[in-house]
Amino acid sequence: MPSPHGPPELKHLDHVLVTALAIKRRIAGLGDQLNAEYASKDMMVVAIVNGALIFTADLLRSLRSPLRLDCLRASSYHAGTKATGEPRIVDQMKLDVRGQHVLLVDDILDTGKTLAAVACLIKTKGAASVKTCVLLDKKARRMVPFEADYVGFEIPNEFVVGYGLDFNERYRNLPCIGVLKPKYYAG
Ligand code: IMP
Ligand code: MG
Repeated sequence: MPSPHGPPELKHLDHVLVTALAIKRRIAGLGDQLNAEYASKDMMVVAIVNGALIFTADLLRSLRSPLRLDCLRASSYHAGTKATGEPRIVDQMKLDVRGQHVLLVDDILDTGKTLAAVACLIKTKGAASVKTCVLLDKKARRMVPFEADYVGFEIPNEFVVGYGLDFNERYRNLPCIGVLKPKYYAG
């Protein structure tokens, strides 16, 4: 049952990997870098939802460009903590990416399959440039050669939740990034 006091489900965490304050500060730093990169380019942000929802919402508010925003839906974790096969990408984009300088935003770079596939899709649609920005990078899990242009934090090989990341669709609303107590992964 959700706790009636304090941030939701915080007591379900075994430990916190990245605090809400650290995320806030890092996003300000990423914003500075991105404002420099896109100062003279027409920018389009494509968020991979649901995972990137909260990160994108905060990142966008650190950007000065009158950018355009669209979303793609991707899923590889159909249940639990193990990726199941190839990512499923549902292209429901409304905006035309042709000639656009696209910044792809995702919550975490894990095996690399999702971002590699989505970057390829956006290039095929005729974007002028495609760069990628992820909040978290789990380098130890990489299965395809892919590096993001902008990374918030490198993290160890642990399954994490919070700030958009879920376990079985829960915990996205935690304000920090953490590892659940084993009993909640089991349940
Ligand atoms: P990739 O295709 O393996 O790089 O997977 C990327 C997607 O898997 C991310 O967008 C997340 O939705 C999900 N994912 C990978 N690692 C984690 C994790 O530790 N917690 C929650 N979701 C994860
Ligand atoms: Mg995701």
